[in-house]
Amino acid sequence: MTEPRTTYDGEPIAEDPPFGATVVVYRRVDAGIELLVLHRAHDGPDYEGDWAWTPPAGARKPGEELDACACRELKEETGLEIPIRPAPLAGDWPAYQAEAPADVTVVLDAEHDRFMWLEPAEALARCRPAIVADQIHAALRQIENAPVSQNIYDDPVFFAGYSRLRRSIEGLDGAAEWPTLRAMLPDMRGLRVVDLGCGMGWFCRWAREAGAAEVLGLDLSARMLEQARATTSDPAIAYEIADLANLDLPPGAFDLAYSSLAFHYVADGARLYQAAGRGLASGGRLVFSTEHPIYTAPTRPAWVTGEDGETIWPLNRYQMEGPRVTDWLAPGVIKHHRTLATTLNLVIGAGFVVDRIEEFRPSAEEVAAQATLAIELERPMFLLVSAHRH
Ligand SMILES: C[S@@+](CC[C@H](N)C(=O)[O-])C[C@H]1O[C@@H](n2cnc3c(N)ncnc32)[C@H](O)[C@@H]1O
Repeated sequence: MTEPRTTYDGEPIAEDPPFGATVVVYRRVDAGIELLVLHRAHDGPDYEGDWAWTPPAGARKPGEELDACACRELKEETGLEIPIRPAPLAGDWPAYQAEAPADVTVVLDAEHDRFMWLEPAEALARCRPAIVADQIHAALRQIENAPVSQNIYDDPVFFAGYSRLRRSIEGLDGAAEWPTLRAMLPDMRGLRVVDLGCGMGWFCRWAREAGAAEVLGLDLSARMLEQARATTSDPAIAYEIADLANLDLPPGAFDLAYSSLAFHYVADGARLYQAAGRGLASGGRLVFSTEHPIYTAPTRPAWVTGEDGETIWPLNRYQMEGPRVTDWLAPGVIKHHRTLATTLNLVIGAGFVVDRIEEFRPSAEEVAAQATLAIELERPMFLLVSAHRH
């Protein structure tokens, strides 16, 4: 006879699935919503690895209803007795979501040593492994108007600063990396194109001029899309609000998925590339730029001057993937750092064949024409990738 399965503190666990439940608790604040995450005390206060941070969750007891299990675990771990709703996630360990009052008091059990209320992107970055992030995504999809990602482009200060950049005023011709990226694109004639993080729509309009049959521009920012719509009259271009963290394209609906400098805002890279792949027809192309990992890695991403007066990019924390908070155009901008190997392996893992990689470097002629570009020879700022689906 086999021993019944138990939790680490000796409580019996149901022998049949589902084996437990996670309850994604959220509260509404001025900036959107915040999720409750608990730090497990079991491996010590400094442990930050798998299962260190999770929403309230726990194992189902033999014979216990799943709803009852979710309510019991929520109460035991946090003291909260609030209504829960199941989120549509199939599997052995489903998720629920529950709204807590903004001023709610959380009372932790002995299994946890602290808790935090985090905006969804931060909670997703902190909660590992991926199965926990999947549960959070499932719950978030249900929470109306709850953005998963930070929407910094709708911040008025950030938007005003971004609108003054050359690339916002001159469009593609004002983006130093555009000639390199353009050279990685297929013949656009007749293509069905989706632009992931389309911003003000410069590429959408260019794609149509280059012969694309139809273009869909997706972006999280209402302000960016307002600008895009105001400068587009072409009925074959559509713009929609969408969070790339929840990207869900109709299967096989596009021939080209393009993205310029948006992917580093998305926490879950694996999900993103998989979702882009699903939206492409067989042989479809993925062409994107993202901030280069040498650029996103450092704690303080700013030039310093060495002892001999040389310009130095202070690269650190390269192998430590995850969110980076920087003050670019506005304080508190969240980007997500992934190493070069991780990005390429995610692309490959999503079923793509990588055709070309560029680490944007201005040519001698470009530096001669625009002296401020010379510093870009010190380190790559942008990673450019072209791939196609099997
Ligand atoms: C640097 S801008 C680039 C805009 C445009 N692709 C271009 O190259 O001109 C980044 C864009 O990504 C969008 N973005 C950031 N995070 C996003 C997300 N999670 N989902 C959708 N769009 C996002 C921003 O709103 C912004 O418009």
